[in-house]
Amino acid sequence: MQQDLFSLVDDSGLDAVAGGRGRRLGPGTVLFPGLAAADAPQLVAEINGVAAAAPFRHMQTPGGQAMSVAMSNCGPLGWVSDRAGYRYQASDPASGQPWPAMPAAFRQLAGAAAALAGFADFVPDACLINRYVPGARMSLHQDRDERDFSQPIVSVSLGLPVIFQLAGETRSGPRLRLPLAHGDVLVWGGPDRLRFHGVQTLAAGEHPLTGACRYNLTFRRAS
Ligand code: SIN
Ligand code: FE2
Repeated sequence: MQQDLFSLVDDSGLDAVAGGRGRRLGPGTVLFPGLAAADAPQLVAEINGVAAAAPFRHMQTPGGQAMSVAMSNCGPLGWVSDRAGYRYQASDPASGQPWPAMPAAFRQLAGAAAALAGFADFVPDACLINRYVPGARMSLHQDRDERDFSQPIVSVSLGLPVIFQLAGETRSGPRLRLPLAHGDVLVWGGPDRLRFHGVQTLAAGEHPLTGACRYNLTFRRAS
């Protein structure tokens, strides 16, 4: 069953977080519309720097399918998927080299967004960079390859808009269909840490900063 955003979110203002900068979407879920927009040119430049050292690639699912989303990582640990399964590792399997360092601007944004959402002292050790071109999507899943589920997830959207699906702790419950635009930051943690989520197929378009693509930065504490 699908429900739209406005049937699930109280619009009376009681859901406002951090002086109105955020909107609470659940006990541990806050959306910050446009929070990263001012930093976006720098963030995209940093993405290009990371990708020069650790190029985007289409990883394989454990079942052997190539993912439609292209991925890279920065920071001490990177999320990878292949025939052997999902895991974090300190080196890029494509090069054998450590992942590029996490840019300070990334770490600062992630820490600040988490703090605004009520998660103090979030220090991510992994940043997954997803690149979606029109036609790419990500099916509903939980993020559960991390050690400590008391640490939140901070997700930053850049470029083309997309519909993000946010369910509960089961696949089958109601799904919020949340439009995510350039600069939006979504934080989920605490009682919401294991919410199922996914990304609907990206529609064709052109964004002044990113061209025909959407980037997503997912910050996590993996270790
Ligand atoms: C993910 O869950 O890994 C991706 C989320 C997104 O692209 O917004
Ligand atoms: Fe995820």
